[in-house]
Amino acid sequence: MSAIKISDGIIKDEILVIGVATKSGKGALQLESGELALDSKALISTLNDLGATGKADEVTLVPGTSTRLIAVTGLGKASTVYSDETLRRAAGAAARALAGNSSATFSLPAKHVSAVKAIAEGAALGSYLFDQFRSSTKAAQKSPLKNINIYSSQIKGADAKVLTESAQTISKYTTLVRDLINTPPSHLTPDSFSKIITDAIKEAGGAALGLRVTVLNESQLRSKGYGGIIAVGQGSANPPRLVHVSYTPKGAKALKKYAFVGKGITFDTGGLALKPAQGMEAMKSDMSGAAAVCAAAIAIAVLKLPVAIDAWAPLAENMVSDSATRPSDIITMYGGKTIEVLNPDAEGRLVLGDALVRAQEEGDLDGIIDVATLTGAQVVALGKRTSAVMTNDENFSQHFLAMAERSGESFWPMPLPQELRASLDSPVADMANIGDRMGGMLVAGLFLKEFIADTLPWLHLDIAGPAYNEGVAHGYTPVGGTGIALRTLVTLAEDVSD
Ligand code: BES
Ligand code: MN
Ligand code: ZN
Repeated sequence: MSAIKISDGIIKDEILVIGVATKSGKGALQLESGELALDSKALISTLNDLGATGKADEVTLVPGTSTRLIAVTGLGKASTVYSDETLRRAAGAAARALAGNSSATFSLPAKHVSAVKAIAEGAALGSYLFDQFRSSTKAAQKSPLKNINIYSSQIKGADAKVLTESAQTISKYTTLVRDLINTPPSHLTPDSFSKIITDAIKEAGGAALGLRVTVLNESQLRSKGYGGIIAVGQGSANPPRLVHVSYTPKGAKALKKYAFVGKGITFDTGGLALKPAQGMEAMKSDMSGAAAVCAAAIAIAVLKLPVAIDAWAPLAENMVSDSATRPSDIITMYGGKTIEVLNPDAEGRLVLGDALVRAQEEGDLDGIIDVATLTGAQVVALGKRTSAVMTNDENFSQHFLAMAERSGESFWPMPLPQELRASLDSPVADMANIGDRMGGMLVAGLFLKEFIADTLPWLHLDIAGPAYNEGVAHGYTPVGGTGIALRTLVTLAEDVSD
């Protein structure tokens, strides 16, 4: 993990990161070196010679005079104020381009403290490498930056410490989420997932921080009536689990209490509704929601925020075998509702239904948020970089969307149209697990809503596309697991702590 420091000095034998933007109309370049005065004329002519355009995700490396190297990162259109997310991405792109080097100082146009934090986050999040499973090709991988220095006089002392700790924690736990997603199902089962989370909690400080973890195994799940989790996991040799991470702030009253519930399918073959080979490869990412909620709870504890969190991760592997759930099987969910499983590939809602009901048994909740790679329909509707928010409480949703904006994660509100609900009716059980194909993301949301008390503010986040980047790296987002949702969950907890 990279160490972040805010400093008002630049070490000579280092790399300097500055920005460049495109002046509107003329296509001319404008250097954006923040608080650092630079001889821009010579540099601009070099950048022109090299064909730099200033667009986002373009990083140009030029030899420095007072520093060894200058990395010039594109900010897009020139502006008097750049958004935090523009800076976060530009810092991330630069950090990725600088892999193989040990440290760099970022001097970018930050007008507010939040921009300084965004730069720190972007640089740290762009400094990610997943090489655990490489052997002969391991040595050829370039190590991420070890030291990230932010050149700024805007923030000093204790404030700078709080800010760097938050950025550092967000980066550390985003790394945990990404690593879990990238770990293949050969090495990540419901049991090993629960052990990794248990270890991460110990490493973070455990009970001393107010963190506790409990794990239900298969026989406990069966005897307590978790019919959804059991039905999804029963075709696999790797039995299901239910992880509960609870955080109760130490020495301060909790100002709010939230439950986070994350879909934890360690691999989704589709079960007897087997997926085609092409759509199946990415299904190691089907536990992204579970990873995000567990890591967010730990991060919130590490930051000692005065907010109580219950994170729930129902974990199962959706496999094909003679013990797998058959289309038309009827199961009894935790809490007693019966479900006709018409499609075993609509499994996320089954494990989530159980966990949502269990989560509401803990009292005093101010809200409940589920996070899931739930539907292909989400990707069709919003693409691969924008996640959906569905809700029974407009205020909660508005608050969450504002926090998503602040954290730089792209979320968009989606409706839960009542007229689609009837399509989930079953002729033989309380409900079927699939309904209308059109609007499939909303139908899935309506299914989950049946497991939520009317009076409890609830958000359903469908992150199917954004959880896993099958394209190229961009900004601070690597190929593979992205860590989406963690930042907004932590930002929400930070916001209600003020
Ligand atoms: N895990 C998938 C959803 C998914 C698809 C996530 C693509 C990420 C990328 C989910 O379990 C699933 O298979 N959903 C079905 C539901 C359908 C059978 C109602 C889908 O979306 O096709
Ligand atoms: Mn599925
Ligand atoms: Zn799935």
